[in-house]
Amino acid sequence: MKALVYHGPGQRSWDTVTDPTIIDPTDIVVRIDSSTICGTDLHILKGDVPDCKPGTVLGHEAVGTVLETGASVSTLAVGDRVLVSCVSSCGRCRYCKESRYGQCLGGGGWIFGNLIDGLQAEYARVPFADNSVYKVPDGLNDEQVLFLSDILPTAYEVGVLNGMVSPGDVVAIVGAGPIGLAAVLTSMLYTPGKIVAIDLDDSRLESALRFGADIAINNGREDACARVMELTDGGADVAFEAVGVQQTFELATELIRPCGRVANIGVHGKPVTLHLETLWTRDVTVTTGLVDTYTIPRLMKLVASGRLDPTIFATHRFALGDTMSAYDTFSDAASTNALKVVLQGSERDPSSNGHIAASVMAGAV
Ligand SMILES: NC(=O)c1ccc[n+]([C@@H]2O[C@H](COP(=O)([O-])OP(=O)(O)OC[C@H]3O[C@@H](n4cnc5c(N)ncnc54)[C@H](O)[C@@H]3O)[C@@H](O)[C@H]2O)c1
Ligand SMILES: [Zn+2]
Ligand SMILES: [Zn+2]
Repeated sequence: MKALVYHGPGQRSWDTVTDPTIIDPTDIVVRIDSSTICGTDLHILKGDVPDCKPGTVLGHEAVGTVLETGASVSTLAVGDRVLVSCVSSCGRCRYCKESRYGQCLGGGGWIFGNLIDGLQAEYARVPFADNSVYKVPDGLNDEQVLFLSDILPTAYEVGVLNGMVSPGDVVAIVGAGPIGLAAVLTSMLYTPGKIVAIDLDDSRLESALRFGADIAINNGREDACARVMELTDGGADVAFEAVGVQQTFELATELIRPCGRVANIGVHGKPVTLHLETLWTRDVTVTTGLVDTYTIPRLMKLVASGRLDPTIFATHRFALGDTMSAYDTFSDAASTNALKVVLQGSERDPSSNGHIAASVMAGAV
């Protein structure tokens, strides 16, 4: 099959690799119908994720069709259309039993496109399948659910739920990339008083307003903290850090009110200072988190009922075979204005809404 392979920092190619097969009885093999690229894939290509070894197929987000099931898989059948979570769950360890799949001790966690071959490929082996994929309801197309693999549960769990967004809250979101924008969408589920988006890039801020933010602040031109103080009674109730650098983490801690909450979402590659010398009297709460994706079923229901529409993330579409160009477009977001690129598998029928090709029903790979 063909797949996007990481060959070390700065190097990727669309290669012919060995077809995946069932290795463990809890595995399934899926045909990838739709996949996408994440900012984390770009981090890998910069060499920021040393666990990911050269030769690994990248990608941790996909909608696929089950082609083969391992002997102990009991809830899935050949032909099922499934959303593959970016985080796998063994289902047996202490953390999986608490729905904290990101911390899985039994071989799960964030493994796709990192520790094992990922999902930017024609086919993929999916371990712990009963616990790690979600059947796509009939009537929902791939693009309606694809971004529930990663960015929506990340923003919702690590941002909105950890930050305990409540009706009426002023929510400040530092960083309006796909994660910050997903935080705009999922904060709106809680009827906040105001959503303030902060970014250096005007096109990202325009997207934030389009997604539902009330106020956009370009912190390259304005003092974001002073603006938030003007707009509020002593600061935001909740701030999300959705970039992953010192400056934005500091800003998030500065612009909340006493007793406010900072939910850190960004991945920090470098040490960051927590200014307890000014924060200790302010009764603030700071949370951290790696996504668990335990909210995928809830988010899927919201999509099915029309309360959540993730399709607005899809700015560009490419055939799966053109994944190399898709990376070029995604990694140059400053000029392409890309939010999420959709990689479309060749057998995917976008109008199918759950229709399964006859060859797949017959189990042919
Ligand atoms: N915690 C988790 O489980 C988890 C999961 C997925 C992604 N992440 C992380 O979330 C973060 C955001 O992801 P993304 O895909 O949206 O990233 P992204 O790089 O696409 O977006 C980041 C945004 O931050 C803006 N920005 C950069 N520097 C800034 C500054 N100094 N002030 C204000 N804005 C600034 C950029 O213009 C951009 O719009 C990343 O660090 C990513 O690795 C965390
Ligand atoms: Zn990701
Ligand atoms: Zn586990």
